[in-house]
Amino acid sequence: GVAAAVVVCRRVKRGGKCGKANGIMKEFEEKCRTPAAKLKLVADAMTVEMHAGLASEGGSKLKMIISYVDNLPTGDEKGTYYALDLGGTNFRVLRVHLGGKGVGLINQEFAEVSIPPHLMTGTSDALFDYIAAELAKFVSQESEEFKLSPGRQRELGFTFSFPVMQTSINTGTLVRWTKGFSIDEMVGRDVVEELSRAMAKQGLDMSVSALVNDTVGTLAGGRYTNKDVVAAVILGTGSNAAYVERAQAIPKWHGVPSKSGEMVINMEWGNFRSSHLPLSEYDNAMDAESLNPGEQIFEKMISGMYLGEIVRRVLLRMAQEAAFFGDTVPPKLEVPFALRTPDMSAMHHDTSSDLKVVETKLKDILEISSTSLSMRKTIVELCNIVATRGARLAAAGILGVLKKMGRDAAKDGDKQKTVIAMDGGLYEHYAEYSKCLENTLEELLGEELFKNIVIEHSNDGSGIGAALLAASHSKYLQDE
Ligand code: GLC
Repeated sequence: GVAAAVVVCRRVKRGGKCGKANGIMKEFEEKCRTPAAKLKLVADAMTVEMHAGLASEGGSKLKMIISYVDNLPTGDEKGTYYALDLGGTNFRVLRVHLGGKGVGLINQEFAEVSIPPHLMTGTSDALFDYIAAELAKFVSQESEEFKLSPGRQRELGFTFSFPVMQTSINTGTLVRWTKGFSIDEMVGRDVVEELSRAMAKQGLDMSVSALVNDTVGTLAGGRYTNKDVVAAVILGTGSNAAYVERAQAIPKWHGVPSKSGEMVINMEWGNFRSSHLPLSEYDNAMDAESLNPGEQIFEKMISGMYLGEIVRRVLLRMAQEAAFFGDTVPPKLEVPFALRTPDMSAMHHDTSSDLKVVETKLKDILEISSTSLSMRKTIVELCNIVATRGARLAAAGILGVLKKMGRDAAKDGDKQKTVIAMDGGLYEHYAEYSKCLENTLEELLGEELFKNIVIEHSNDGSGIGAALLAASHSKYLQDE
């Protein structure tokens, strides 16, 4: 280790191979710069695109999807409801028992199941049959205490976290897949119909009362416990935001506004793109080789599915062109998505003086065995560059939403809190990322304004949110 480190230093001085690796890093770092001025341009571009997406269907890369959620949970919801949360590498099934006014959530039970990767790119039937079978298993474990009254059908809130063109609160067609899913035949189909058919095949007597995006579910779940929640952001495998818009401010919507005069909008901000985004050659190559080239560009710079992959691509270049790992290129480093974001995060958070975690990760995941301390430091720095760019851009996105909501400026004596419900594995587990996001938001808003903004971690709020929306849209509601 020590001897190698010395060699590295000498090489740097002579401008040899390590000098070249450093050059590749520096060039990448330069490309990734996100000074506040640039982030403000990104935020402004986001606000502009929001307006365009609300003005007309197809008016922007931002779909600004009308969720048909025009009333958020009040706390009065009552009864037993189910939820199914599908949108990443796992899906969850939930059963919640709502006590009604003044009581709130009595009990919740859930099961989490990972999705076999081949189902993400197989057939619609295979995916939905699998999900419905797991749901049926879960339902069969219902306890006596929470059995529904006879003759009453079980109702479900379905969180389906992909772009869906909603046609009502419980119907909608898939616009396209994101996040590594790719089942062509599903595009254009009604996702509730697919699920309902699969449930019927399982002999499951259950109806879908609400179809929601995870951002919309998180917003609903957040509002249930905090009246000041007005937006939700997901930073997980993918990334997206939803917020409460005035019905009046949605020109493309011709429906009848509800009493609230509001409508929750699922932005699908992952598909945002702007000339102000600091895209590097690595981003462009990753995009070109992805399942959805040209799409989800913002998501590919900020979300968990992609951060580790960007790091891998830069390291690969350093190995190929500057022999960073020695004379041969480590074969594992050539495998797309071999370096996952959780592993990148573990390396980034390594606080040991000899960077033991980095060493172990490189060995276990990339089968790279002899690294010097200075090489490991370089790798941590690379993780930092990629995570920082992502977190700062995510903060710029949030600023864009705050601007659209008119919550980015001081109003006289305004002590109104703006709460953003936040969820997703990236936000939850990548501390450097979340810390950087919050610091950046403060940097952009200024200390005073930032005091009114609260980012609230809503742990798996999207499932509960969907169940709450199923409750408030229950087909039995009129009878009660
Ligand atoms: C992707 C999906 C979006 C979802 C987000 C977070 O961007 O398209 O619907 O909300 O991931 O899961």
